[in-house]
Amino acid sequence: MSRTLTFEIFRWDPADPSSEPHLEQFELDETPYMTLFLALNRIREEQDPSLQFDFACRSAVCGSCGMMVNGRPVLGCRTLTQDLPDTIRLHPLPGFQLIGDLSVDTGKWFRGMAERVEAWVHERAPFDPEAPEARMDDDLAQAIYEGERCIECGCCVAGCGVANVNPKFVGPAGLNRIKRFMMDPRDERGDEDWFEVVSDEHGVFGCVGLMACHDVCPKDLPLLEVYAYLRRKALSSGFAPKPRPQPLLQIEGTT
Ligand code: SF4
Ligand code: SF4
Ligand code: FES
Repeated sequence: MSRTLTFEIFRWDPADPSSEPHLEQFELDETPYMTLFLALNRIREEQDPSLQFDFACRSAVCGSCGMMVNGRPVLGCRTLTQDLPDTIRLHPLPGFQLIGDLSVDTGKWFRGMAERVEAWVHERAPFDPEAPEARMDDDLAQAIYEGERCIECGCCVAGCGVANVNPKFVGPAGLNRIKRFMMDPRDERGDEDWFEVVSDEHGVFGCVGLMACHDVCPKDLPLLEVYAYLRRKALSSGFAPKPRPQPLLQIEGTT
């Protein structure tokens, strides 16, 4: 028997001073194999054309449809309503600038991160378009490609408690990007160049390792291995974590 689903959707237009953040309720009859993409489009077409959300590819490739579904960051285009309860609560991804309702600006965050870690191959020799393409070992190329599979959806950042409280933290997607370029033999940056930038609490040693990012990544990127690799590299290069600052308040009996 088909269900009537209740959607509780976060609404707010930050550009409109008269708009207040609130949840708005919509009801919709479920159809077989309905995704959140289909459900939200039907709500917008049939009930409220002002509803804002992002989708482009509808096939887990473009990374634009990340949203919080009952408190968990997921891709809306590949989430079936049949896997969700009768009441579905939708929020925008935290950690990103809100455009309106469920739409956030992940591009701004990813651009800032990419500029900070200089996410491009650094070579000292000037580019020679006539030179033959450099060969790369197949296994290494495959390992680098693992990092390239990130679709920049932002789900890992939204699921990361550290990224949510520390906007300077390079985030799980940033750590993944660092490892990708660190492994690339064409990139001539040395360990010192890297760890000057990322060996503090805003970088490699900011991660507390609870692995929410690993659990929610829709592309199943091996983020656990990323952190293990970066920490081993940092420690073997002599970049130990800097001591944490003393707490301002000392709770009695904890010294
Ligand atoms: S493991 Fe690290 S990067 Fe991943 S969610 Fe936890 S703190 Fe964030
Ligand atoms: S690492 Fe995974 S969750 Fe994070 S942005 Fe990339 S694809 Fe999305
Ligand atoms: S619409 Fe492109 S990833 Fe979902």
